[in-house]
Amino acid sequence: MKHTVSVDRLQPGVFISISGVGWLDHPFLLNRFRLANADQIRVLRSLGLKEIEWDPARSTAQPLPVAQEREPEEDFSAAVIASMLNTKRDRTERVREQREGLARCERLYEQEATGVQDILRDLGSRPAESFGRARATVGRMVGSLLGSQSIAIHLVNMKVKEPGMAQHAMNVAVLSLLLGKAADLDEEQMRLLGLGAMFHDIGKTEVPARVLRNAQRTHAEEQFYQSHVGYGVKHAAVIPELPTAVRNIIACHHERWDGSGFPNRLQGAKIPRLARIVAIANRYDNLCNPFDLSTARTPGDAVAHMFKREAAHFDPELLQLFVKAVGIYPPGCFVAINDGSIGLVVETNSKDLLHPLVMVYDPGVPRSEALLVDLREAEAKIESVLNPAKIPLEVVEYLAPRGRVDYYLEGLH
Ligand SMILES: [Fe+2]
Repeated sequence: MKHTVSVDRLQPGVFISISGVGWLDHPFLLNRFRLANADQIRVLRSLGLKEIEWDPARSTAQPLPVAQEREPEEDFSAAVIASMLNTKRDRTERVREQREGLARCERLYEQEATGVQDILRDLGSRPAESFGRARATVGRMVGSLLGSQSIAIHLVNMKVKEPGMAQHAMNVAVLSLLLGKAADLDEEQMRLLGLGAMFHDIGKTEVPARVLRNAQRTHAEEQFYQSHVGYGVKHAAVIPELPTAVRNIIACHHERWDGSGFPNRLQGAKIPRLARIVAIANRYDNLCNPFDLSTARTPGDAVAHMFKREAAHFDPELLQLFVKAVGIYPPGCFVAINDGSIGLVVETNSKDLLHPLVMVYDPGVPRSEALLVDLREAEAKIESVLNPAKIPLEVVEYLAPRGRVDYYLEGLH
């Protein structure tokens, strides 16, 4: 943006930049934006600006011709500026609350993940005690983590340094519960779903890591891999109090709607509904958080892949609900906005999936006061989902909650 124009020649539709003015010294939400009304032009004038940068490419109207310069309007109420500043303050307060909420949930998530690790480890030696702890964990997850759906999804989408079985169990449990909630399951079903999701892969302890981690398995290795379902059922048998619905989730989480799954090639509604839910959550987490993080997909990519390439594998009604719950642009994903800026999705609008709440990168705005833009209200829309590994580091650092870049970048280079 190199063109400049006199403030007196501005009119609504001209796209301007005021990055020369400190963000704290003006009441606008953005440093670059398209003028929407005459009030904004008055505010610019009251800031003492004479010349201003504008961008012809992003403008929907040209500046007024020199001959038609308007009379400067001297009389402007300070109240308008004050109210704009208040709005701005409210928004920055929301950023702080959002980040604090995320940090709180993150601690809880880490604690629970450690607990799940112990539960899975002790399941063979102390089944009754572990089962009791698992029930308590699921109860807490249903109660607290799901209270804030966006935060829960965001946590699943953050990369951990070494995604292990406990992390996967935890992610699949959270995602399954989110989908269960969207499918209106009652409390008892939610509890069974959470337990089944947590235990779905317990049989993997019998399969060597080299087989589990190998993406190009031989026929024999593939059979060994698939046997984790049978081993899981065997492990479950030592816990007499484990409800049948939970055992069925372990047994059927790799069955597919079109009958192409394993081990029994069950089809459609023959597959227990809770297992169909876990199958979707499991696939999503495997796409986003694979053993080899260099092949990790962005959340948006994962959802698109499941919908476009693998839809036949899943219960169509549940897949629809999942996309709705997780969003096309799920919390935690980086997006390119059509005004040229980069943002981080922080909340999905369940009624308008294409227009989530986005935190926008603007070097002129302090990180602690980063802007939250509701794309439903703004003129802007999302152009594409970005891979965090391909975004300049300072942008990721700015947008990442608490500046913890490692969540997004670890292993992605
Ligand atoms: Fe599995």
